[in-house]
Amino acid sequence: MAQPYNSFFISTFLILFQLSFSWQNQVTTPPLPILPLPSYSQLKWQQREIIMFLHFGVNTFTDSEWGTGYESPAIFNPKGLNAGQWADVAAAAGVSLMILTAKHHDGFCLWPSKYTDHSVIGSPWKNGKGDVVRELVDAAKARGIDTGLYLSPWDRHDPRYGHEKLYNEYYLAQLQELLNKYGSVREIWFDGAKGPNAPNMTYYFSDWFSMVKELQSTINIFSDAGPDVRWVGNEKGYAGSTCWSTINRTSLSIGNASIVDYLQTGDPKGTNWLPPECDISIRKGWFWHKSQSPKKLSKLLEIYYKSVGRNCVLLLNVPPNSSGLISYSDVERLKQFRGAIDVIFSSNLAGKCSVYASSQRGGEN
Ligand SMILES: *[C@@H]1O[C@H](CO)[C@@H](O)[C@H](O)[C@H]1NC(C)=O
Ligand SMILES: *[C@@H]1O[C@H](CO)[C@@H](O)[C@H](O)[C@H]1NC(C)=O
Ligand SMILES: *[C@@H]1O[C@H](CO)[C@@H](O)[C@H](O)[C@H]1NC(C)=O
Ligand SMILES: *[C@@H]1O[C@H](CO)[C@@H](O)[C@H](O)[C@H]1NC(C)=O
Repeated sequence: MAQPYNSFFISTFLILFQLSFSWQNQVTTPPLPILPLPSYSQLKWQQREIIMFLHFGVNTFTDSEWGTGYESPAIFNPKGLNAGQWADVAAAAGVSLMILTAKHHDGFCLWPSKYTDHSVIGSPWKNGKGDVVRELVDAAKARGIDTGLYLSPWDRHDPRYGHEKLYNEYYLAQLQELLNKYGSVREIWFDGAKGPNAPNMTYYFSDWFSMVKELQSTINIFSDAGPDVRWVGNEKGYAGSTCWSTINRTSLSIGNASIVDYLQTGDPKGTNWLPPECDISIRKGWFWHKSQSPKKLSKLLEIYYKSVGRNCVLLLNVPPNSSGLISYSDVERLKQFRGAIDVIFSSNLAGKCSVYASSQRGGEN
């Protein structure tokens, strides 16, 4: 006799429970989101905290920051190149995304592009059969790290530069090549850097961006003006002391010096979700120079507090040296940096706090 009574009781209870549940649902509809909302890719990106930038190319061999475009590919010979070491260093630093300068302003390409011969093809490294982009992508993937790329719009080597249509087509073709050839690219980095005497030429950013999204729909496009990730407005490694992910995209344009303050703070009333990225190098220069050494640990921590601590992702440049390896001094500094962050934040100060709500959805029930 107990058995039927029990199941009757349980099913009645379940029906009542469901009724009350749906009744409650009807009364208390969820609140509308306060727009704008981040995309899944943006959220995933913001959780990375620290990204590694790798400036590498002919400048690594000429002790310069901006190449002239006249460098011979013959000087590019990183005999001991081991992208596995780069990725190990990144993994040990807690980095989940590495961005490589596939081409810098000097126009030299770190991959064998079919649209130019000014590339690794003309270098003695691996007898012209090498491909730095491939090496990075494979090494990173093997360690569960994502890859991003930088392809400099300003090109001091290519004769097409300055011929607007021709050059924009060349650039578009190279973008397409990179985004088709190396699997999933998580971030693509665009800047407006250009020397004062460079030919006055318009870049077709909106065409480039549309093609990027067509080829890789979940990629994050970085530029001064988004569309997915914005520049923080300086290269000192800090954001405004209040720094919003939201901003009005209509007020932004690439290479516009008058917007840097706005970029640093964002806009609480902003209509677009465009989280900021703080780019800075672990050394003085972006490229490796024999004479330079990494910043002090205290400086790196200050940068971390003022970037990650202020709602930004820190894009920390760690340049491989002319042997094709990350120098010991940088490896050691990064280890100290990671160790310090882990110790400083090992106890969650908010963990034992209580949270009270002044109201809740559906009232007191
Ligand atoms: C560059 O060209 C644009 C139009 O193509 C023009 O508005 C602008 O003034 C030029 N800038 C310089 C520095 O010549
Ligand atoms: C620079 O940004 C300001 C502020 O949004 C805007 O008024 C100005 O037109 C922009 N200049 C250029 C060249 O886009
Ligand atoms: C950004 O856009 C919002 C909504 O249109 C507006 O209220 C706000 O004033 C804008 N911010 C700036 C700095 O123009
Ligand atoms: C590059 O770094 C490696 C250590 O990772 C070091 O053995 C090598 O000597 C360095 N090369 C130069 C040119 O400093």
